[in-house]
Amino acid sequence: INCIGILTSGGDAPGMNAAIRAVTRTALYNGFEVKGIYHGYRGLLNGEIETFRTENVSNIIQLGGTILKTARSKEFQTPEGRRQAFENMQREHIDALVVIGGDGSLAGAREFAAEFNFPIVGLPGTIDNDLSGTDTTIGYDTALNTIMEAVDKIRDTAMSHERLFFIEVMGRNAGFLALNGAIATGAEAAIIPEIATEVDQLAELIQNGFRKSKSSSIVLVAESEVTGGAMGLAERVKQEYPEYEVRVTILGHIQRGGSPTAADRILATRMGEAAVDAIIEGQRNVMVGIQDDKLIYVPFSKAIRDDKPINRDLIQTIKMLSI
Ligand code: F6P
Repeated sequence: INCIGILTSGGDAPGMNAAIRAVTRTALYNGFEVKGIYHGYRGLLNGEIETFRTENVSNIIQLGGTILKTARSKEFQTPEGRRQAFENMQREHIDALVVIGGDGSLAGAREFAAEFNFPIVGLPGTIDNDLSGTDTTIGYDTALNTIMEAVDKIRDTAMSHERLFFIEVMGRNAGFLALNGAIATGAEAAIIPEIATEVDQLAELIQNGFRKSKSSSIVLVAESEVTGGAMGLAERVKQEYPEYEVRVTILGHIQRGGSPTAADRILATRMGEAAVDAIIEGQRNVMVGIQDDKLIYVPFSKAIRDDKPINRDLIQTIKMLSI
């Protein structure tokens, strides 16, 4: 291996830049050539490729977003698209690839690696924390902190007006942000796709809270068809319990931005270094993961399995602590 290409793909996540920096500099340190690929797989297809030197990644560790830009490419999902991408890689003499992204991006990497015989190493870059085989993902901690700060602010106004707030957070089909966001903010409940919650159960919880002299309530809702989102849930509660003054806030893309936390910068840096180590060791088609603070290599097929366990006990913790 002489040249490592690097790209970010799918939804951006804070800490991606720290990862780009770590991969680039570890690779340069070890004598590899490095090529930055812009706009994810789309850029690989269109040949948006630039030789990276150490200066290309100066002053980026603290930045949210991704300097390489990102995209979700439909064309790369076709065999012709992937062939075109591979031909561009050959023309640029890229013989190994580091892909930073979420499950869709790593599923693409798995397919690409199966068709053409060269090493791809993935880094888990997503605020959703929904990749299996790793305790956490790059961007998750920052998003959780953003949620915490936003909910703290909403709590002030919720208390002043004695209102019930439904706050919707991201996570695609996973409830990690909602569940741990609720723990971090002392919310009354977390509604997540992994655990069914009836409107009646929720209302009872809220009613109990109000009865016990609580002047406001905060419920975190994970976006997803299963939960119905904050809007859907609020409508149902309002219809059945018109006595509540209900408000809804959808936090939206604010959760994807901002300067990465120390935890995300450290994680991204360690994982970035491990990605290059993996290539040196001859690993291929694996995602770098972290378990009990140890870096590990997880086969793509395991990482993208939709079965990451969520700590169900925390729902009970939230309930108990909201008395
Ligand atoms: O996967 C990251 C994520 O932010 C999800 O939480 C969310 O469902 C989705 O991306 C939003 O995607 P887009 O930026 O395309 O609206």
